[in-house]
Amino acid sequence: MQPHDRVPFHRPTLAAAAFEAVREVLSLGALTGGGARTAACHALLRGRLPDTVPFLTTSCTDALEMAVLLLEIRPGDEVVMPSWTFSSCANAVLLRGGVPVFVDVEPGTLNIDPARIPEALTPRTRAVLCVHYAGIACRMDDLRDLCTARGLALIEDAAQAFGSTWRGRPLGGWGDLGAFSFHGTKNVGCGEGGALLVNRPDLVTRAEILWEKGTNRLDYARNGRPHYDWVDIGSSFLPSEVTAAILEKQFEIADALTARRCAAWETYARLLAPDAEGASVRMLDVPAPARHNGHIFAVRVGGRARRDRVMAFLAERGIETRTHYRPLHASPAAARHGRAVGSLTVSEEAGDGLIRLPLDSHITPAEQERVVATLLDGLRQADTAPLRQVSPADAP
Ligand SMILES: Cc1ncc(COP(=O)(O)O)c(C=O)c1O
Repeated sequence: MQPHDRVPFHRPTLAAAAFEAVREVLSLGALTGGGARTAACHALLRGRLPDTVPFLTTSCTDALEMAVLLLEIRPGDEVVMPSWTFSSCANAVLLRGGVPVFVDVEPGTLNIDPARIPEALTPRTRAVLCVHYAGIACRMDDLRDLCTARGLALIEDAAQAFGSTWRGRPLGGWGDLGAFSFHGTKNVGCGEGGALLVNRPDLVTRAEILWEKGTNRLDYARNGRPHYDWVDIGSSFLPSEVTAAILEKQFEIADALTARRCAAWETYARLLAPDAEGASVRMLDVPAPARHNGHIFAVRVGGRARRDRVMAFLAERGIETRTHYRPLHASPAAARHGRAVGSLTVSEEAGDGLIRLPLDSHITPAEQERVVATLLDGLRQADTAPLRQVSPADAP
């Protein structure tokens, strides 16, 4: 196989202007966080989400930790979240002594099932943390109504959802707090980066303090005070200006990157549609009010043995694919740290049977045709050929 025949899972795109932007920051010697480049990123985020106050962070993980601090989650407090998500969601709660409570997701979208939440609520529940899987929106109206009726905070993990909307309104701006990731694999990436969006005016002043290591440094800088003080709990959430400079330039090409990914997403859906049912392949559903950002193209192909065999078949032919989460309720840390409510079979089935196909802003229709043809070949082979070997993961 020639190197050009490989289809990598993800090739990042870096704006050409980012190189000059970094050089400028370096030549000014102004590398520490909270400077002009951070302010420029904040302005760009406010342009996209006008009703929010953004805070750049070093990751979405950081943004989630800041969100939980801001909501004053205390030991024993519970936060309901989908089991089908990343460890950072649970860790943010655990770090404050809280308890992550896992519920199942909807089969169509793999987003938290609002109907599963009421049975998970107790007098200790403080918040719901929803995750827009693959950049496809959760049912935001239902979640907001539920949280309002029960007096709960709503946190959106929009790690994968920069540029996605629900009823035309950007994700990250629906909850009390929203968290983006700008990790290198995301639509808009700067290596490691994130942002917390504070959508409640009453939380903004304290957010400024938590972001700056528990000090009133922002107020001091803004109002020319003689000194600043340690006034609250906090941490070092802000990224360096080098990161912010890259991100600013990435934001400028964000819509073009997302448009290319969405076009590739539609191409996969069109190529797979005629054979999906016959090959027992399930794609993600996109609810009518959701407009997604083409972040992930995921298929579910059944159980783990079929999934692993088809992934190996694709890999042998140079096509790199990925599984995704191991559901949190079934992860080693869950027994010590979390609580699961109800049946979680949809999350478990996704953990066993989901494959993410190669997707980025570079992939060509020809590469996608090869991916789909090879996937369908692999599935036929997995269903007909005898098992060559059983991997340890398949052993009973
Ligand atoms: C749903 C979700 N939340 C949070 C994160 C963590 O993002 P970061 O790497 O920016 O900390 C991820 C990672 O991809 C994720 O999938």
